[in-house]
Amino acid sequence: MSFCVAIDGPAAAGKGTISRAVAAHFGFAHLDTGLLYRATGAKTFEGLSAIDAARSLQASDLDRDDLRSGDAGQAASRVAAIPEVREALVDFQRAFARRLGGAVLDGRDIGTVICPDAEVKLYVTASDEIRAGRRYRELQTAGEDITQTQVLADLRERDARDSARATAPLKPADDAHLIDTSDMSIEAAVAQAIALIAGKI
Ligand code: C5P
Repeated sequence: MSFCVAIDGPAAAGKGTISRAVAAHFGFAHLDTGLLYRATGAKTFEGLSAIDAARSLQASDLDRDDLRSGDAGQAASRVAAIPEVREALVDFQRAFARRLGGAVLDGRDIGTVICPDAEVKLYVTASDEIRAGRRYRELQTAGEDITQTQVLADLRERDARDSARATAPLKPADDAHLIDTSDMSIEAAVAQAIALIAGKI
């Protein structure tokens, strides 16, 4: 049996944490689709065109240490606006979504484009300031030399680009459940997601 949980939303809203917790709870496989775009973007640093980078993406490209950096996030959002790049990554994501045993995919277009027939769709969001604060603490822990003001500007730029692009823009699917994590603990957000999914199984 396949069962797809689609989790979309802007950067640093809590999608990753919720996705991992939900996957562990239900024993589903998890794919962080942002990593595909980050790895594609990182390959362009070595001179490859974005389209060639996406078409030649290997599992080993997803293990690079530098994929979580702010630069990789910006590069990801630039290559993600190119239709041929997205097209090159569709089949892998759709096959993952329909693997036996259940799958959680998190990204920007999972409920709208990759898996429009997902059994459960969540759209996880939070205010810009809250998201910037969370991402700032993550980057600080990772040793990046950056201010919270820069992180906020970076998030806003990336969200604006992701929402404005013509192909697969960031937006909630019509049938997505909204979870706003601005004033919610991560435990409460995870519990809400688990309850929604349990009701559909
Ligand atoms: O989720 P994460 O911040 O790692 O995503 C990095 C970038 O990859 C996003 O800003 C977005 O441009 C792109 N992305 C996308 N579609 C997805 C996942 C990520 O366009 N499904």
